[in-house]
Amino acid sequence: MASIVVILSYVYYDTISLLEQQDQETIRADVLGLTDQYRVGGVAGILETIERRNAQKGEMLYMLADPSGSHIAGNLVSLPINSIPDDSWFDFKIKSADKNATADHTAHGYNVQLPDGYQLVVARDVEDIRVFRDRILYSLYWGLGFAVVIGLGVGTAFSRSFLRRVDSITNTSQKIMNGNLSDRMPISGSGDELDRLAHSLNDMLNKIELLMQGMREVSGNVAHDLKTPLTRMRARLEDALRGEDKVAQRHALEQNVHDCDNLLATFNALLSITQLEAGQQRTSLENLDAYATLADVVELYEPLAEENHGTIQLRAQPGLIIKAKRELMAQALTNLLDNALKYGASKDGGTHIIVSGRIEQSNTVISVSDQGTGIPEKDRTRVLDRFVRLDESRTKPGNGLGLSLVSSIATLLGGKLIIRDNNPGLKAELHLPYAG
Ligand SMILES: Nc1ncnc2c1ncn2[C@@H]1O[C@H](COP(=O)(O)OP(=O)(O)OP(=O)(O)O)[C@@H](O)[C@H]1O
Ligand SMILES: [Mg+2]
Repeated sequence: MASIVVILSYVYYDTISLLEQQDQETIRADVLGLTDQYRVGGVAGILETIERRNAQKGEMLYMLADPSGSHIAGNLVSLPINSIPDDSWFDFKIKSADKNATADHTAHGYNVQLPDGYQLVVARDVEDIRVFRDRILYSLYWGLGFAVVIGLGVGTAFSRSFLRRVDSITNTSQKIMNGNLSDRMPISGSGDELDRLAHSLNDMLNKIELLMQGMREVSGNVAHDLKTPLTRMRARLEDALRGEDKVAQRHALEQNVHDCDNLLATFNALLSITQLEAGQQRTSLENLDAYATLADVVELYEPLAEENHGTIQLRAQPGLIIKAKRELMAQALTNLLDNALKYGASKDGGTHIIVSGRIEQSNTVISVSDQGTGIPEKDRTRVLDRFVRLDESRTKPGNGLGLSLVSSIATLLGGKLIIRDNNPGLKAELHLPYAG
C-alpha cells in the first residue's frame, strides 16, 4: 500500500512540475525577449510586440504599466495586486478570456521592473494545468480510497480464514493429544504454506502411529514368545524338583540352559535391531570389500550345507566395495544363509545355495538364493517385520527376527533388502551403495 502511494505521488509531482516548468520557461523567454526590445526601442519598441501577441489570442497575458502603475498596453487591464517587480513568481485570478466561461481562471506570471520605472508583467493562463492537476488528484484520492478499502477487506478476510485454519490445526492437535491418535490435520487443498505444514504434520503423525503400532506389536510378540519357553522351563523345573532321578534332573537343567540360550539369543537379536535402527553404529563404517566377508561366511557354512546333502557356491569377484563394518556384513549374511539352510531344501532333498556378488549401476548387490519353497509375493514385505514367521515354518526353530535384522543392517548401510522369487526358491538381495 505504501509503495503504491509513493509511486503515484511521484508520478503526480513529476508530471505537474514538468508542466509548470515548461510554462515558466515560456514566460521567461518572453520576458527576456521583451526586455531586450525595450532596451533597444523603448516603450514604443515593445508596445508593438505586445499588441501583436495579444492579437494572437493565446494563453499568454501581458501588461505594460507606466511608473504610476497605469495600463499602457496588453490584455491585462490592471497590475495584479500581489505582483512585486523583480521579486518572484506569483499566481493571480483573471476573468476567463472565453466568453462562455464565467469562472475565474488562475494565471501564473512574473513582473519585471524596466528602466525608467515602467513595469512589464508576463503571465500565462494556467487554468488547464490546474484542472488537469485537480483531476489527477481526484483520481488519486479515489484510487487510493478504493485500494485501502479493498486491501482492508481482502486482508481481513484472509487473516480471518488464516486464523480459522490455525484454530482448526490447534483443535486437531488438542484432540490428538487427548488420545485420538488417528485424527489428522485438516487440508484445505490450496497447497499454501499452511497446507504444506499440515501435510508434513500428518506425515509425522502417520510415522508416529506406525512406530507406536510397531512398539505395541513388538511388546506383544516378545511377551508371547517368552511365555512359551518360560512356561516350559517352569514345568520342567517343577518336575525335576518333584522327581528323585538325578539323571533326569540333570537332563532337565541342561534343557533349561539350552532354552535360556535361545531366550538370550532372541533378546540379543532384538537389541541389535533396536541399536541398528537408532543408527548408533553409522559412525564407525569403513570402506570394505564385501568379497572377503562373502568368502569367509561361505567357507564357514560349507560343512553345514554338506550335512544337509547340499552345496553352497560363491559367485563373486573381489572389488565389491561398500561402506560397512565387517561384523555387520557377516551378521546379515549368516542370517540369510541360516534361512537358506532352514527353509531352502529343494524337492530332491538337497539344499543348493548360491551366494553371489556383483556391481549394478551404483550399487553392490549381494544375493543369497536357494531352491526351496520361497515366500509368496504377498508376504515378502511382511516377513521383514519383527517376529513374523510363515505358518509352514513353524516346525523349524526361530523367532522371526532374522530378516528383520538383515533389513535393519541394510537400511543402516544406506541400502535395502529385497526379497525375490528364485523360481523355484527364494532370492534375498542386499542392495548397498557401491563405495569404490
Ligand atoms: N529362504 C527362505 N525360504 C522360505 N521361507 C523363508 C526363507 N527365509 C525366510 N523365510 C520365511 O520368512 C520367515 C521370517 O524369517 P526370519 O529369518 O526373519 O525368521 P526365522 O528364520 O523364522 O527366525 P530367526 O531368523 O529369528 O531364527 C521365516 O519364518 C520363514 O517363514
Ligand atoms: Mg532366520
